[in-house]
Amino acid sequence: MPVRSMLLLISLITILCSWATADELDLGIKPQMDTKSYIKYRENLMNNARHYRKNINAILRDKVNTHQHLLAQAQALYNLSKMYADVFPEGSSLGDTRAMEEIWQNPAGFQARLDKHTQDTAELLQAIESGDNALAKKALSKVGKSCTGCHTLYRSKD
Ligand code: HEC
Repeated sequence: MPVRSMLLLISLITILCSWATADELDLGIKPQMDTKSYIKYRENLMNNARHYRKNINAILRDKVNTHQHLLAQAQALYNLSKMYADVFPEGSSLGDTRAMEEIWQNPAGFQARLDKHTQDTAELLQAIESGDNALAKKALSKVGKSCTGCHTLYRSKD
């Protein structure tokens, strides 16, 4: 075999081997986290929550005649409350975000706020299911307090 072909063959084998190894071993190298997308995603979730909360308020105060939407909107607020835990990964404090470092410095405290919020939205759901409007209004105001309670501690002013 001419030397050039030999060299070509060797380099080809080397390349193939390195591909195989990288694939098989799965070196655990993760692509760098897309911080910007996480920040945008959680802001979108939060804005969804804001809209649901406002709509529920409008329905409970009879400003709109869409009582048939109430349960689904409360369910959505509850579902959202369980998504927040996934969207504050460590390292996502870098960038255009109002999330404060305290989230990662005091993860147990942040989790406690999340749990409290989920509990409050579950209570709102129950109150709405029971058909008791006064109870639902009270539950909604409690939900609002668990939103702002977390913001006071973990969201910066600007
Ligand atoms: C456990 C903490 C926590 C709870 C509970 C919570 N939030 Fe937030 N919220 C945050 C943090 C932290 C940010 C800042 C996110 C960022 O800028 O990356 C935020 C941001 C926001 C924003 C601004 C989004 C934007 O476009 O910048 C809105 C609106 C909002 N929250 C509404 C709500 C509402 C409404 C509720 C309750 C139904 C709620 N949040 C519950 C922590 C929380």
